[in-house]
Amino acid sequence: ATIKAFQTTLLTWFDQEGRDLPWRRDHEPYHIWVSEIMLQQTQVQTVIPYYERFMDWFPTVQELAAAPEDRLLKAWEGLGYYSRVRNMQRCARQLLADYDGQWPKTATELTELIGIGPYTAGAIASIAFNEPVPAVDGNAFRVFSRLLEIDADIAKPQTRQLFEQVIAKIIPVDRPGDFNQAIMDLGSSYMTARNPDSEHSPVKAFNQAYLDGKELAYPVKTKK
Ligand code: ADE
Repeated sequence: ATIKAFQTTLLTWFDQEGRDLPWRRDHEPYHIWVSEIMLQQTQVQTVIPYYERFMDWFPTVQELAAAPEDRLLKAWEGLGYYSRVRNMQRCARQLLADYDGQWPKTATELTELIGIGPYTAGAIASIAFNEPVPAVDGNAFRVFSRLLEIDADIAKPQTRQLFEQVIAKIIPVDRPGDFNQAIMDLGSSYMTARNPDSEHSPVKAFNQAYLDGKELAYPVKTKK
């Protein structure tokens, strides 16, 4: 099976069945960033109302930068890991002070910002700015390790690079953000960690681990 066929199959499915989520209504980097930070440790269904209220309270980077601490923490109450929202405010202030309020448009530059690691940088660059870069989170590790039977240990720091290199060859230059989000949707529907339903998956024919009856062996992860 070719890369082109995989891209077309995945994106056609995404166009028809991709989730309608509040942060998918536009490509504002601020919206993508807030959603991605919230989604790091919290499920989509939980995030939705938090995201809507956050945008109500802090509609722009400027308002987030100026938010009083009690309001900021209140917006996060129930999500946990408060360092995330504290870092978001630091990042908002950094953007205003050092970037004239303009988001840098590449993943490499985005990682210079406070609280933005390689995954978040890839997500923002691809979704907001159409840069053809991977966004490798747990979903991407699981989905690609199964599709391609990649045996590298995802507990090892170097393994991220390997996945990034592999995905870079597969990501379509015309729709990188949709591609990355389609992988996320696949990872939370047909290609879940413990109860995959690959039989009904749109990319069943491309899922080598499934075809070999070895899905649950992926991703390979040693205990630390
Ligand atoms: N998980 C992380 N980022 C996501 C996104 N943009 N859409 C859905 N689930 C996600």
